[in-house]
Amino acid sequence: MINKNRLQRSVPQNAAEIELALRYWNRLYERRQQSVPPSRHELDQFRRYVGPRLGQRAIDVGCGRGRFTASMARMGVDATGYDWATAAIKIATGTHSSRRVRFAVHDFLSETSPEGVKPGTVDIVVCRLTLGYLDGKHFMEQASRWLRPATGTLHLVLETSERQPPGWTSLSHSEAEIETLCEGWDETQRWDISVGGALIGLALRGPQLLLGEK
Ligand SMILES: C[S@@+](CC[C@H](N)C(=O)[O-])C[C@H]1O[C@@H](n2cnc3c(N)ncnc32)[C@H](O)[C@@H]1O
Repeated sequence: MINKNRLQRSVPQNAAEIELALRYWNRLYERRQQSVPPSRHELDQFRRYVGPRLGQRAIDVGCGRGRFTASMARMGVDATGYDWATAAIKIATGTHSSRRVRFAVHDFLSETSPEGVKPGTVDIVVCRLTLGYLDGKHFMEQASRWLRPATGTLHLVLETSERQPPGWTSLSHSEAEIETLCEGWDETQRWDISVGGALIGLALRGPQLLLGEK
């Protein structure tokens, strides 16, 4: 099970907390603060384990400045990055232009799917360093629904609690949580993105959980 107590510290629980969190992210992007950009090594691993193909459709959940979204577009994937922070979407739109990439504002804590994202139509859902800000169970159900049955792949990038340096506070995930995330998929793969496994990648292919349209 996902540790609800831990998530409650990062997942807004009511309208006031949502407003605060949103303000936090917009300010961060307005101040042009940096997050960890995907390295060439990370992108090579994505190619190897997720195997994006020309013309496939991908969505990037909580895309921030859109660097990973744009990298997927350069691999030939039609990629849409979504973030609830309008400041992030403004930067992403102004930075990356390609016929294969687009960006839009969407709040993944809401019950609705992003416009045009219908069940069973997405080849790759990416959630890079963002899962801890979402309702994990709800998001996993949504992603399973959006992905193509049998072949659709959810790609998660997570910080692992047990491998962080002592005293380091990050929005990390325990091994028990990671094990739970891997349940209910036809195929799962895991790899270390950083040496020592403080940052890992997961490719979860073939969602077994198919729920009705929302
Ligand atoms: C740590 S950043 C990661 C950004 C990007 N994925 C990357 O790897 O650089 C987390 C992102 O999640 C976004 N986010 C948090 N809660 C969200 C929500 N409910 N809906 C959409 N985006 C959200 C934030 O605005 C922020 O851009």
